[in-house]
Amino acid sequence: MVIDDRVRKSMELYDRAGELIPGRTQLVSRRASQFAEGVSPVYAQGAKGSRFVDVDGNEYIDWVNCVSAVILGHADEAVDGAVKRQIDRGSLYTVNSPMEVELAELLIETIPSAEMVRYCKGGGEACAVAVKIARGATGRDKILFSGYHGWHDWYQSVNYLADPDTGEFPITGIEPIGVPKALAGTALPFTYGDLDNLEKLFAENSGEVAAVMMEPLRSDLPPEGYLEGVKEIARANDAILIFDEVSCGWRTRIGGIQEYTGVTPDMSVFAKAMTNGYPMGVVVGSRDSMELAARMFISSSYWSDNVGLAASLATITELKRRDSVAQFEALGEKMRTAMQGAIDSAGVPASVSGWHFRCYVNFDVPDASMTSKVNTLFVQEMARRGIHTFTSFMPTLAHTDDDIQQTADAAEDVFKIVIQALEGDLDNLLEVDPKREPFRRFVT
Ligand SMILES: Cc1ncc(COP(=O)(O)O)c(C=O)c1O
Repeated sequence: MVIDDRVRKSMELYDRAGELIPGRTQLVSRRASQFAEGVSPVYAQGAKGSRFVDVDGNEYIDWVNCVSAVILGHADEAVDGAVKRQIDRGSLYTVNSPMEVELAELLIETIPSAEMVRYCKGGGEACAVAVKIARGATGRDKILFSGYHGWHDWYQSVNYLADPDTGEFPITGIEPIGVPKALAGTALPFTYGDLDNLEKLFAENSGEVAAVMMEPLRSDLPPEGYLEGVKEIARANDAILIFDEVSCGWRTRIGGIQEYTGVTPDMSVFAKAMTNGYPMGVVVGSRDSMELAARMFISSSYWSDNVGLAASLATITELKRRDSVAQFEALGEKMRTAMQGAIDSAGVPASVSGWHFRCYVNFDVPDASMTSKVNTLFVQEMARRGIHTFTSFMPTLAHTDDDIQQTADAAEDVFKIVIQALEGDLDNLLEVDPKREPFRRFVT
């Protein structure tokens, strides 16, 4: 494997991690194989605003932003200031913090479907709490889902439904190792955008479905009327509708995709960007769907630590104060225009898709089997030019016009390399292994 001198320290650490940490990283999306392994940075020593510095001293414009967890920019002074002041008053109290009630009121005022609130420490955990509440509230076990919902057994059990002919798992790329076999058949995937498929699953599992859990969208808008249709079908079958807004929440509207589309679920989960980089997750929902949680055992020591509460209050307040919705629309539009300009100037067969909070480049390759190699070549060459990205770009409020221009200039150079690759030089130009998709996400 090629190891570029520019990331030598990163790769040495990654080797040591290989001996000590099974899987090397805690989040699959932080594995070196998710970028250009041997050229992209793997470990950082500091981050500020739109940029980070890796352990080898290289600076990058960051378009990944902790897979959407950072929304205001790294080390934001307003949020970090609130956290530091809180730490001086105690990071965790023996009794409860009044911020717990204050944040609940702010979430209820901000998120259209929210009437009650439970906290936890992350997105997957919030999904697991929501599923437990839905099962408790309905007395049913099965969950129909569409999206990525974390690492917990309720969800990963879907991979006991491997295709008997091909052996392919529904969440391709993940074996259900360690998941109780007793859960097989309790989580069933449905096809995003296809109401007939959802109706069919309800018919086949009549009276057994507790909830529909879905990402209302990831990068593109849902088909016209689709979310309304899902809500109607869930209602007709007395199932609870849960929106997983862990990735799509906050950026488009502070109150989530439900505020943008006007389709309100019974429950929703939010996490990631709600704290701009501190652990926190939340389940919100209607009184009807959530109040039974008072009788369920859902309890953990750090779920209402003062750091997460202070960071959430400061982040949501800052998003409102900085007019984030308009800012993200403007930033996204500039980014899309700049990338399209770079594509046009270079003359590369590619297009820009996606919404303003996550636009992405699609290369028009003659043969689909080349996509992964071409995308990795793009990541490899962007990394060499100080740009950390997949092929998508997720801005924070700290990204500037200069960041966008520098990224577009780098992309224009890289697009010219991609043209050479498409003319036959791909295997020479790609110096690393092609990125392997870690798993299928169901919603694009
Ligand atoms: C839609 C969605 N749900 C749940 C999760 C899991 O969140 P976490 O990694 O905080 O457990 C993610 C993370 O990428 C996500 O995108």
